[in-house]
Amino acid sequence: MDIESTFAGLTKVEPLEIKTSRELTVAVMGAGSRGNEYPAYGKLFPGTVRVVAVADIDAARRNHMGDEWGIPPERRFGDYHELLDAGKDGKLADIMLVSLPDDLHYEPAMEAMRQGYDVLLEKPMAQTEQQCLDLLERQRETGVMVAVGHVLRYSPYFRALKKALDSGLVGNVVSIQHQEPVMYAHMAHSFVRGNWHDGNATTPMIVAKSCHDLDILKWLVGKHCVRVSAEGSLSLFRAENAPPGATARCTDGCPHEKTCPYSAIDIYDRKRWFLYVFDLKKDCPSEAILEKLRTTDYGRCVYRMDNNQPDHIVATLLFEGGVTASFTMDAFTPWGGRRTRVMGTMGYIEGDSKTFTLYRFDTGKSYTWSFTPPQGENYKESGHAGGDLALIRDFLKAVDTRDFSLLSSSIEASVESHVMGFACERSRLRAVKGQDQPGCLDR
Ligand SMILES: NC(=O)c1ccc[n+]([C@@H]2O[C@H](COP(=O)([O-])OP(=O)(O)OC[C@H]3O[C@@H](n4cnc5c(N)ncnc54)[C@H](O)[C@@H]3O)[C@@H](O)[C@H]2O)c1
Repeated sequence: MDIESTFAGLTKVEPLEIKTSRELTVAVMGAGSRGNEYPAYGKLFPGTVRVVAVADIDAARRNHMGDEWGIPPERRFGDYHELLDAGKDGKLADIMLVSLPDDLHYEPAMEAMRQGYDVLLEKPMAQTEQQCLDLLERQRETGVMVAVGHVLRYSPYFRALKKALDSGLVGNVVSIQHQEPVMYAHMAHSFVRGNWHDGNATTPMIVAKSCHDLDILKWLVGKHCVRVSAEGSLSLFRAENAPPGATARCTDGCPHEKTCPYSAIDIYDRKRWFLYVFDLKKDCPSEAILEKLRTTDYGRCVYRMDNNQPDHIVATLLFEGGVTASFTMDAFTPWGGRRTRVMGTMGYIEGDSKTFTLYRFDTGKSYTWSFTPPQGENYKESGHAGGDLALIRDFLKAVDTRDFSLLSSSIEASVESHVMGFACERSRLRAVKGQDQPGCLDR
């Protein structure tokens, strides 16, 4: 193999823009953060996709999307059931985007498939392993196209890493170490105070957050996973760790407010992070933020929440052919992204989700991959290292041409990583209870 030219070929990144044979239409269930992310493609590349119906129980979000896309009042719905009811006598659009909270994925996705929509289903697919398998069965029965929001598969970085492994640049993959650094404030925001604080009401952390990572590992290895085991717990964000005198809310004059790294005033007001949850802009007045902190869970003491998601997980995964992977989800990091090391028989790759370096054992040479989007390529505007817009690009192409092979995160391809996640959680809970048997996947 010519290593130089094979490696150089990895820098060829697919342009974000495609032309579709007609403007595809989408009905959006859940006009929140994700519900706006994918249709943005149609704003960047007019004529490709248009939102023609929306359901959101939040009137401001519903009307914001409605006004942005010129949706008539009779196509703006409150609860998602209303949108499904309106489609009973004929679909309202080509595509249904299910970007509702985790506990509202299964039923609307099942019904949307029954009504004949092609579906873009946010991860996690559903709340139990059985529901995920039901969704797969429904897709097979109906023959519609279903993509799961495993956006990392579409990012130029992970695409290049996958190509590097598939083209044998490290020889045979023997083992992988993969870390998901969640970032301390993101953990507090989403998994202690925010929507995903209760793994029973949504999905366990390893599914809710790390299904992306289990999916990437399975995809990179390219083999079925046969055994998993996991450990992990909630170590910090518990009532007994609250410093003496901590108040119920950071806005109640807490004596630790100025020094606590999890202070809501610091995270939301001084740093201005995550303001999208309040539909506020970075330059809004402090009072608008403080009002939210006084009235929503986002202002509560991080040690006094009703949370149960673990803040650290270690999992081991065994794939067919003896390939192993270790995975860690770590809340306590200064940055997010991913860190990955791949050990192969002929080389080693180390990457940080922006760049990666290949070290060859035979020549001692190393090669570094990085990606700077060409001017005007819009990759910069796409979340998840370019994955968000690249996913919708491929999905639209697949829907337009009815070519299922264009879809990397089809429901068929995505279901296994969810099954792996639920198996890891069973293993972790057994370990917590002292019944530490490795969790086997039946197949
Ligand atoms: N692919 C990814 O990387 C990724 C990233 C973040 C979130 N997600 C997933 O996407 C989904 C949406 O997350 P989000 O961050 O956009 O949440 P969000 O809270 O911003 O949006 C969800 C929207 O659903 C609406 N809603 C709730 N109940 C409803 C109902 N009964 N009928 C109609 N609308 C209703 C809410 O008002 C809200 O506007 C979640 O399942 C989440 O786990 C995926």
